[in-house]
Amino acid sequence: MTRFTVNGEPVHYKMDPATPLLWALRDASNLTGTKYGCGAGQCGACTVHVDGVARRSCQVTIGAIEGSFVTTIEGLSSDRSHPVQQAWVAESVPQCGYCQSGVIMAVVALLAHTPNPSDQQIDQSITNLCRCGTYPRIRKAIRRAIEATSSGDALTAAPPPDIDPADAAEAVPALTPPRTEPKR
Ligand code: FES
Ligand code: FES
Repeated sequence: MTRFTVNGEPVHYKMDPATPLLWALRDASNLTGTKYGCGAGQCGACTVHVDGVARRSCQVTIGAIEGSFVTTIEGLSSDRSHPVQQAWVAESVPQCGYCQSGVIMAVVALLAHTPNPSDQQIDQSITNLCRCGTYPRIRKAIRRAIEATSSGDALTAAPPPDIDPADAAEAVPALTPPRTEPKR
């Protein structure tokens, strides 16, 4: 039995204490924003915060963090209003998006401790892998988030595409089953 706090909620996991935090978050807490990439601590897709520090959750057992405070991408904001999320939207960073929640969590942890990092500090801290090669946009978005937070100006990224639910739910004609010739 392991107890700790996830996104402000106390949670009591009845899983084996050797269970990786990644699986507890995804399978028991249904927090699927945290992704499984390599399972070996290399890619960073599974990055979350444990007591404010970026950790690769595939490499952390739940038993090792008893009493800690865990934050996942879902805990940053409920409306993507966090400055780093806003910068990501403004720079249209994601391509497939799979790696991005891990990158964002790593960046948020970096900026919390180092509000104006040098390029070298960014390179040393943000070692997440992106198979889509979004690295130049990631760098631009980090700079944009730093600018917004240091100037105190709220970043206002474009709103999500305005999709009328009626359009999104347009009825699709039912498929006609293939005709089969009667057997002779
Ligand atoms: Fe954890 Fe790749 S899944 S570092
Ligand atoms: Fe596709 Fe990074 S956006 S892996």
